[in-house]
Amino acid sequence: MEFRAIKGMNDILPDEARRFALVEAAFRRVVELHGFSEVRTPVLEPTELFVRSTGETSEIVEKQMFTLARDTESYTLRPEGTPGVARAFLNGSVHAKEPVTRWYYLGPMFRAERPQRGRLRQFHQAGCEVYGDAGPVVDAEIIDMLVGLLKELGISDVEVRVNSIGGPGTRQKYREALVAHLTPKKDSLSEHAQKRLLDNPLRILDSKDPRDREAVADAPSILDCLEPEDRTHWEGFLAALDALGTSYVVTKGLVRGLDYYTRTLFELVSNQGELGSQNTLLGGGRYDGMVHELGGPKLPAVGFAIGLERLLLASPLPAPAKASRCFVAPLGAAGLKASLAVARELRAAGIGTDLDGRGGSMKSMLRRADSLGARACLVIGDAEVESGQLQLKDLASHSQALCPRADVVRTVAELLASAPKANEAAR
Ligand code: HAM
Repeated sequence: MEFRAIKGMNDILPDEARRFALVEAAFRRVVELHGFSEVRTPVLEPTELFVRSTGETSEIVEKQMFTLARDTESYTLRPEGTPGVARAFLNGSVHAKEPVTRWYYLGPMFRAERPQRGRLRQFHQAGCEVYGDAGPVVDAEIIDMLVGLLKELGISDVEVRVNSIGGPGTRQKYREALVAHLTPKKDSLSEHAQKRLLDNPLRILDSKDPRDREAVADAPSILDCLEPEDRTHWEGFLAALDALGTSYVVTKGLVRGLDYYTRTLFELVSNQGELGSQNTLLGGGRYDGMVHELGGPKLPAVGFAIGLERLLLASPLPAPAKASRCFVAPLGAAGLKASLAVARELRAAGIGTDLDGRGGSMKSMLRRADSLGARACLVIGDAEVESGQLQLKDLASHSQALCPRADVVRTVAELLASAPKANEAAR
């Protein structure tokens, strides 16, 4: 029997892993420039944490959690990073130590979705959370940071969608207006939306079902229902985006699928590369109620998460080339002993070095060096040990020279740093 990875949970083999590392490094660099520090939290959390924060009526909690029971406890593989990070923030009493906290995280998330391109059951997010800043400038600065990050990764065809769903007062008022609008059309709604009409009518706004789309087309806009403080925040947010020169599209149907959001909502969407229909690269917003809901003080918060797999589908950046390496080919017993010492010296000097201790002919050694993509090959046989002169082959130019044992590190380093000659590189 051959074991296969679970559907929707992919192996990331080395070439792809190098592309992941590339975007992760760009993410870390950019967010650290903006003052974010890394936090690492467990992948397994108490199920109740997600029920309380992500929300009982969210699709994630309703249908997508990987939950396991152990003894009398129920645990869930984190479907998103925000609740666990907020829990860590509270458990560490971080709010008592600093007025504003900026944290970032990277790691796998788990959702039992129907897998397709850009939608997986284990996927990776890179996210940021800010606690203690009521905005609205920070909301806009985060978006500007993200547009810059995507550009750096070669993704410039990006639409920034923004909306506000206000605070509890606004939402109560809007919920009533929306229910009044949809109730007469109830029978024409999808079954799912009919249920939503009772528990979370706002979610009907982002239904993909054509019947629901038609019913909400002329629905009142939440932006017309904003309470004065929510309106001030919204206008301040747009003014900050304008000041930054960040283009955006006000998208009144943008409600997002998590229950905790308040006020600012945003998504960055792209049609670049191989994204297909799952073209939302990242999403985020403000969630001023969560910290209190989890038992902490009333503290505003805002954040986002990027889907790394989607980012890689959109980004044209290739896997970075491997650094030039040296292959050490031992021939004979004395040659092997000397080779082990030389390989250790080269590595200690920071030169990537492969040594094949399986033995074999010179020809087979050179084949292995080639298949490993080595640029330099040092042949060390018993004769070389005796003469103190090692054979150094440049596998790009197919030339070779003798190299004194004492100079090996410097000579190999020089060869690896030199460009292959043009006519020879083309071969
Ligand atoms: P989200 O919109 O659920 O928000 O996910 C953010 C991003 O994660 C999506 O835009 C997408 O790129 C990626 N993503 C989500 N589900 C999948 C999947 N099944 N397969 C592949 N990629 C996926 C959140 O998770 C919030 N925690 C964001 C946030 C942070 N809001 C405030 N702070």
